[in-house]
Amino acid sequence: ALLDQQKQLVMGYSAIADDALMRPIEVAGKTVGWLAVTPFQNVTEAGGERFRQYLVRTSLAVGVLSLLLAMLIAWWIARTLLDPVKRVAAATHRLAAGEYSNRVSVASNDEVGQLARDFNQLAHTLERNEKMRREFMADVSHELRTPLSVLRGELEAIEDGVRTLDPSSMKSLQSEVSMLSKLVDDLYELSLADVGALTYRKSECDLNELLDSCVAMFLERCNARHLRLKLELPTTPLRLEADPKRLQQLFSNLLENAVRYTDEGGVLRISAANEADVVRIDFLDSGPGVDADQLPRLFERFYRGETSRNRASGGAGLGLAICHSIALAHGGSLSADHSPLGGLWLTLRLPRNA
Ligand SMILES: Nc1ncnc2c1ncn2[C@@H]1O[C@H](COP(=O)(O)OP(=O)(O)OP(=O)(O)O)[C@@H](O)[C@H]1O
Ligand SMILES: [Mg+2]
Repeated sequence: ALLDQQKQLVMGYSAIADDALMRPIEVAGKTVGWLAVTPFQNVTEAGGERFRQYLVRTSLAVGVLSLLLAMLIAWWIARTLLDPVKRVAAATHRLAAGEYSNRVSVASNDEVGQLARDFNQLAHTLERNEKMRREFMADVSHELRTPLSVLRGELEAIEDGVRTLDPSSMKSLQSEVSMLSKLVDDLYELSLADVGALTYRKSECDLNELLDSCVAMFLERCNARHLRLKLELPTTPLRLEADPKRLQQLFSNLLENAVRYTDEGGVLRISAANEADVVRIDFLDSGPGVDADQLPRLFERFYRGETSRNRASGGAGLGLAICHSIALAHGGSLSADHSPLGGLWLTLRLPRNA
């Protein structure tokens, strides 16, 4: 390095160490400056030091930058992932408080989207069940009140002397009472089936015999209404494990309906056959039938078609619900369709080894 008189740098290597070699520059016996030579080892060490400092600075910058980037990504993930989860959580909270109409809108196709869809399905089911419960309670109280108020009216009329207590009024009173007790029995049976407490005593039984005896019980009523009853049974026995009493109840309910809701002079056709591993029994009748939109609702509790409501003979709408629960309890199924004869076609399938 070239230094001036006062050993200030003029040009050259600036980091002059203490052990640097100094040579004066003399002009006419006077020192006008200095030449400083720093040993080579010192120079490389200083370069290393600069390089180290440079490394520290860049690592620091990279560190800060990565931290910022990580924060940005975390914020984005929290927003896209946690936001929907938070929404589902809030909706669950509202659902738990009884707000069943509550739904979450999450459009994504990931796990959170699936969770939201499942949540909406759950809310829908709860809402439907709650609605059904309310309707059921309303139906039950309505169905109980009607025969009770008729009974009370008739009893009051007898008390006031408007009507006399003769065999005909007794008969009418008794029919109201038996309607009430049938309703209460049906409700009791359905509630037992719901809690799984309905007892089934299964034994090996022959469906041919069972159908024969049930049909025999309805022959007289069919004749009275000029209904032709055709029973088509296979020659081979239809054996299966089932509760004969419950099956009898099922067949009687279906026959009762067929007799009630088929116009005079119509046809009832009952056929049974062995299929792969089920026994299939078809109940077909002639008109009137039910509309296509009524078909899936027939097995609902208290569901009645117009025919049942308009006629004095109409019931409470529990018969088919009971039949359905008996079929299910046997591991079978009951389905409804339009019959080619013009009325209703009910198909009962019962597994042979239930
Ligand atoms: N064989 C049938 N033909 C035409 N409609 C039918 C037939 N069976 C049932 N239905 C219709 O289905 C409805 C439901 O039948 P379901 O047996 O459950 O009730 P219900 O007969 O009205 O009353 P319940 O059986 O409790 O005395 C009936 O109201 C009737 O409108
Ligand atoms: Mg019925």
